[in-house]
Amino acid sequence: MLLKYAAGDMGDLAADSTVLFVPQFEKISGRTLKRLDEASSGAVTTLLKSAEFTGKEGEIAAVYHPHGFKSDRVILVGLGERKSLTADSFRRAAGNVSRFKGLTSSKKAVFHFEKVEREEYFQAAVEGCVLGSYRMLQFKTGEDRKNTDRLAEITCAVDSPRLVGRLKKAAERGRIFAEGQVLVRDLASTPSNHLTPRLLAARAQNLAKKHGFSCRVLDEKAIAKEKMGAFLAVARGAKEPPRFIILEYRGAPAGRRPVVLVGKGITFDTGGISLKPSLDMHEMKSDMSGAANVLATVVNAARLKIPQNVVGLIPATENMPSGTATKPGDIVTSRKGLTVEITNTDAEGRLILADGLDYASKFKPQAVIDIATLTGAALIVLGYSGAPIMGNHPGLLKRIKQAADATSEKVWEMPLWDDYRERKKSTIADLVNSFGRPAGTIMAGIFLESFIGDYPWAHVDIASVDLERSGKPYTPKGSTGFGARLLTQVLYRWKKL
Ligand code: BES
Ligand code: MN
Ligand code: ZN
Repeated sequence: MLLKYAAGDMGDLAADSTVLFVPQFEKISGRTLKRLDEASSGAVTTLLKSAEFTGKEGEIAAVYHPHGFKSDRVILVGLGERKSLTADSFRRAAGNVSRFKGLTSSKKAVFHFEKVEREEYFQAAVEGCVLGSYRMLQFKTGEDRKNTDRLAEITCAVDSPRLVGRLKKAAERGRIFAEGQVLVRDLASTPSNHLTPRLLAARAQNLAKKHGFSCRVLDEKAIAKEKMGAFLAVARGAKEPPRFIILEYRGAPAGRRPVVLVGKGITFDTGGISLKPSLDMHEMKSDMSGAANVLATVVNAARLKIPQNVVGLIPATENMPSGTATKPGDIVTSRKGLTVEITNTDAEGRLILADGLDYASKFKPQAVIDIATLTGAALIVLGYSGAPIMGNHPGLLKRIKQAADATSEKVWEMPLWDDYRERKKSTIADLVNSFGRPAGTIMAGIFLESFIGDYPWAHVDIASVDLERSGKPYTPKGSTGFGARLLTQVLYRWKKL
């Protein structure tokens, strides 16, 4: 989709459709509504009287052939109440309109932002449009494969020429943020036979070349040389060999310590010998969403030219049951030297992250953030609404919360109390990897904490928010891609902790 920018009166821009974002109204008031009502011989009055369109969230109406407009139709999209307007109002409204036939059948559209001055609103509108119209067509054939959308060009427009520069910057940023999230959705929706650890590594290498960052891949031998015993314990059961992917983006002088991101890359989680029930097991193809988020965030950092150094670490493997698989009760030695009694092979994410978090120390990081579809219990704590976060550094956690406010990817901090640390011990090894049902999300965090180095650390558990089951304004059914905008925003606003 081509994005263009312009300034001018909303009636003066020629297009198939002109989209206007309208806050809720009770009577025809304000210049725009009055003018539209006149231009449509009272159609807006009719819409208001019939309550067909009053600017509520979710409402869309089209006015055809408005007099005095160079556009064939004006599409009104509801923003909801003016007093509770946020960037997400624009994201949701743009998401809603992005699937509206009148718009998708247009070739050229204008998004006119009337009296909007906030950059984050422009950005959010572009994000909503890209995210709302997302569809995964790669595995469809025939008629279903065809993308019937004609929308090829959107001109973002404001009244005043002095705003165009800011509009353009914000909209381009919105496109990058959203395309990162789309990359996560694509990868997470790709089934495990089409996205093995090796294929994920190849994809990372292609993206690195395209966007100008470095990508090194450790194969099974190199991983063994690094003594990543916890990671290898998970990989043992699979025929597909594991990969450890190292991404490095340089946006600052070499001396600047990097922010390191670690993402869980289980390309399929059967549970291993502690086999999962078959109901919904297919959803475990997206157990590499954390990895996809890390990859997308590094891509975003490169595209946005963020002036920081960023490292992405991705342990990638399948978790399979087989004659060579790790068995419950087995004890392994992690890269850090701590021994782990693997009491449940389905608690595999924390094992691969343990070695990833330890490896992160190599980079002398300013901070480390890991992201993972780690615990089913995350859904029990927060439902589908948000992601539990935890960590050892209030300043870093605050950054993540602030970023979450900006991107509307909700997070909530869990406590890491001393009481929990008592429960992680094994009778015969240093640690066990699973702890029963109470505080499952926190206990996973407590386990990870044992493997971190001397750095500020935060953990984001996205198991609760990774899949959308019904469809929201800018989140169609399927993989959500939650986390990519969040991490990008953290880096975008980064300053020394
Ligand atoms: N990948 C799962 C967590 C998960 C569950 C993600 C549902 C998305 C949706 C993880 O590896 C897992 O199996 N966790 C176990 C841990 C338990 C054995 C301690 C869980 O949550 O049940
Ligand atoms: Mn598991
Ligand atoms: Zn898992």
